Amino acid sequence: MLHQELARRRDPMWRWERPLLREISMYAQGLNQSDPAAVTASPEAARFQARIDAEDKIEPNDWMPEAYRRTLIRQISQHAHSEIIGMLPEGNWITRAPSLRRKAALLAKVQDEGGHGLYLYAAAETLGVTREDLVDQLLAGKAKYSSIFNYPTLTWADIGAIGWLVDGAAIMNQIPLCRCSFGPYARAMIRVCKEESFHQRQGYEIMLTLCRGTAEQKAMAQDALDRWWWPCLMMFGPPDAASQHSDTSMMWKIKRFTNDGLRQKFIDATVPQGHYLGLSFPDPALRLNPESGHWEHGPIDWEEFRRVVAGGGFCAADRLDARRRAHDEGTWVREAAAAFAAKRTARKEAA
Ligand SMILES: [Fe+2]
Ligand SMILES: [Fe+2]
Repeated sequence: MLHQELARRRDPMWRWERPLLREISMYAQGLNQSDPAAVTASPEAARFQARIDAEDKIEPNDWMPEAYRRTLIRQISQHAHSEIIGMLPEGNWITRAPSLRRKAALLAKVQDEGGHGLYLYAAAETLGVTREDLVDQLLAGKAKYSSIFNYPTLTWADIGAIGWLVDGAAIMNQIPLCRCSFGPYARAMIRVCKEESFHQRQGYEIMLTLCRGTAEQKAMAQDALDRWWWPCLMMFGPPDAASQHSDTSMMWKIKRFTNDGLRQKFIDATVPQGHYLGLSFPDPALRLNPESGHWEHGPIDWEEFRRVVAGGGFCAADRLDARRRAHDEGTWVREAAAAFAAKRTARKEAA
């Protein structure tokens, strides 16, 4: 029965039917879906929702609404693609890191991101898709990944800014995912978050070193903050007022905070860190509201966000070209691994 169901799910028409999902935030840019009313219509759906309300984890063999499965496949696969594409802007600096220590740390960080992609593809596979199909979708330019990785890394300070801000924003988004209702995703995120915190610290430490260095080094750090600040705020997705369908993801406890809520947490945590570095933020409207205790920010350029999400980012074509090249160059490794596995199976069967 399970096999038949999995075979049905592997049918390409089923898998890639037009998603109900809206383009939104963070490493998964399509995590909301519509039609919350349909979600609790059947007795199974009511039982499913009761388990979620009781903070039970949903496991791959459990009954789940199709829209829940599709939402998760889309969110987890976009998250996985983002980790893999996210290796590229920083990988670009491994050979140019300013010291052996920096090179070793950056190499470890970029390898971690590759590992995150692999845990996440494995978590997505528990929902009845294959990694090969997900990778094909990415290489064909049909799958989304976080638009932040379509910005270029121009100087070494960008490696500091990415660790501090991009990984910092990712942590803000991913800590609540450790409590996501889908067990395999939640468990993958626990390990991912531990590694992300190392990434954030290594980035901040690069910024700190530059800010305590020469005037030229400090100017480099300021320039990197100026270029990465707004795109990082956009990583949390459109304002809540513009994303009408987040109710279902919240109800299913895939998502626990709204885009604006997470963005505010990130700003409140990050602004004092920037001030400690002696840097200024490229936002003249940024001010601490003494009553709420929150940092208020100026308007975000959502036009730019829409343009970059739609593939208009400076490095969008480069990123996909680099992935396609890496995939082609790795063909012999995949073939060798498959041949070895087939040989072992044949030997086992013969024995
Ligand atoms: Fe990561
Ligand atoms: Fe990271």
